[in-house]
Amino acid sequence: MQRRTLLVVVAIVLVLGIGFGYRLLGVGGHAPVSSAVTSTGTASIGGSFELIDQAGQTRTEQDFAGKYMLVYFGYTFCPDVCPTELQAMSAGLDLLDADVAQQVQPIFITVDPERDDVEAMASYVPHFHDRLIGLTGTEAQTTAAAKAYRVYYAKAFDEGQAEDSDAYLMDHSSFIYLMGPDGQYVRHFNYGETPENIAAGITKVVENS
Ligand code: NI
Repeated sequence: MQRRTLLVVVAIVLVLGIGFGYRLLGVGGHAPVSSAVTSTGTASIGGSFELIDQAGQTRTEQDFAGKYMLVYFGYTFCPDVCPTELQAMSAGLDLLDADVAQQVQPIFITVDPERDDVEAMASYVPHFHDRLIGLTGTEAQTTAAAKAYRVYYAKAFDEGQAEDSDAYLMDHSSFIYLMGPDGQYVRHFNYGETPENIAAGITKVVENS
């Protein structure tokens, strides 16, 4: 092998290696968390859904009409990103003035209904906020809700892990969506936003409406 060819090969291996390392170290089981969705416009995020809450009741977007919804998609087995985001969301809610807070309904929608049944959601959501509603559903209901919010998700298996293993992670996009009282998209918060910024962002929207 010529020296030049060898260099090219080494460069390719390095690039692939860094990419793979980033996937492993980056955001543990989370795909494009940093890519913004602003380019998709406002009209295309959100819409109707029919899911089941942690008490076993059917819920649709109509149940929250007239209120702001703070919506996050994730899954209860998530090792890091989801708990971090749900904590930031909950802490942000607690920073709101009471009159603003009561207009905002926090909602967590699972992208992993296979493991996140009603019971799993019921034991998970109270860890974050007593007003947090956890929604699950059938595979089809979940897919429809995620599609409406343009949320990407997919099962992620470790190398060599059997595809029927139930110890999988989920790759999923990680945005907190603020939806208006009319159900329309207002804005979103990116992964890593502080509770203070979330609270300030919500307050600005609610008080200017
Ligand atoms: Ni997650």
